[in-house]
Amino acid sequence: LPRTIKSVLEDQSSSDAQVFVNGWIRSVRSQKQVSFANVNDGSNLKGIQAILTTEQAKALTTGASVQLKGKLVASPGQEQQRELQVEHVQVLGECDSTYPLQKKRHTLEFLREIGHLRSRGNTGSAVLRLRNAAVLGFQKFFEQAECFNVHTPIITSHDCEGGGEVFKVLPASDYETQKAAPTAMASSEFFKKPVYLTVSGQLHAEILATSLSRVYTLGPVFRAEESQTSRHLAEFWMMEAELAFINDLNQLLDFTEDCIVSTTKYVLDNAREELEFFNRWTDKTLLERLEKTVNKPFIRMTYTEAIEVLQGAQQSGKIKFEFPVTWGSSLQSEHERYLATTHFQHPVFVTNYPSGLKPFYMRVDETSESSKSTVGCFDLLIPSIGELIGGSMREERYDVLREKMIESKMDLDEYKWYLDLRRYGTVPHGGFGLGLERYMLWITGLESVRDVVPMPRYVGSCRY
Ligand code: 4AD
Ligand code: MG
Repeated sequence: LPRTIKSVLEDQSSSDAQVFVNGWIRSVRSQKQVSFANVNDGSNLKGIQAILTTEQAKALTTGASVQLKGKLVASPGQEQQRELQVEHVQVLGECDSTYPLQKKRHTLEFLREIGHLRSRGNTGSAVLRLRNAAVLGFQKFFEQAECFNVHTPIITSHDCEGGGEVFKVLPASDYETQKAAPTAMASSEFFKKPVYLTVSGQLHAEILATSLSRVYTLGPVFRAEESQTSRHLAEFWMMEAELAFINDLNQLLDFTEDCIVSTTKYVLDNAREELEFFNRWTDKTLLERLEKTVNKPFIRMTYTEAIEVLQGAQQSGKIKFEFPVTWGSSLQSEHERYLATTHFQHPVFVTNYPSGLKPFYMRVDETSESSKSTVGCFDLLIPSIGELIGGSMREERYDVLREKMIESKMDLDEYKWYLDLRRYGTVPHGGFGLGLERYMLWITGLESVRDVVPMPRYVGSCRY
């Protein structure tokens, strides 16, 4: 394969040797005799500076794709150590002046309008290199923790979270039937029952954890979220882990914290250039914040304690919440923000929420009184963003789970396989799901999930 600009620049033996460089022109600056072009192929932040004659540079326009032949020489400038003394220019694809990514700072809103080109710019490409580094960091963590990477299905007959935010899947031919007889929409002719795009791979990951012991999966999940917020997408990527034979919630919290700390360390060590870019342009506290994330233990508190903190803040007049803070009501994003962003300014695990607020599969706490029944679960809240991870111990006791499923009016036949996992050699187990785009907000300082996924899908929008 032809070499990337990154590898050409890093290879110390390439000085004075003839090299080829492929990429897109970011900018051209011409003086009388000599011209400078910045060429970038996406492999690093700064690309390479090319020195050519002004005659050669005439053929170059911003956005054009080129192959340059030349020698790497030491650069007299401060910006880079080495630059390309060009001998030969070949334009692969011309680009005219309507190219929207001219050299200047564009707003994130403008870049969203040109989503098919934004990854050719600094912000768009740095996000994707960081995203790649984050995924590698997660994979390295899971590998050393002896978790197997597994693949859970996208089409499923279950609504794991019970939130009713599922997209139904139908073959196109069923839509034709629907036109003739609208009631035929109830189920898919193809699968002979209603099926959906998955909202979480958890239940399937439980099948695999109760056979391989420790698994993780990273895949797209889909939610028909009506909320038009900077934290919600209709299609997003979830990193899910499921672990059998863990003793209790504390062990799960330790594992989850290790996972975030280890991945963030990996990103700090392996994507420094990108983090420095975001620290300069997006969030001047980014590096400091990430260093603190890896060096200071996360806060841990129960839901009940969190309610006390929130009530205390409200009573002392520190803050006025829009939604009431009472035991039993869910934490709204204003509450989550107060805890992580204002009060602790650090990631916070909030644990043991009331059962009534959480899905059927979470393990009921034995110690909780029946009037204030809680489950062995947690949300990890992070400053500015709110919930990054949701996880729990899973109800492994057959009878307790069956009771809960009946209470939740679930179809026991449909979930027989899930109960079977408890019927045949049940084990204590638990896991979590992390929204990859929200983690990306944390490590870029960007504010909208629409800017950290290449082609965002959200209510009202599915371009490309
Ligand atoms: O808290 P959630 O709904 O948890 C589950 O789905 C569990 N079954 C996961 C598990 O235990 N295996 O979702 C997990 C995370 C959230 O904490 C949040 O970061 C992210 O997924 N998330 C979203 N991210 C972007 N857009 C949305 N619409 C999201 N909904 C949840
Ligand atoms: Mg959640």
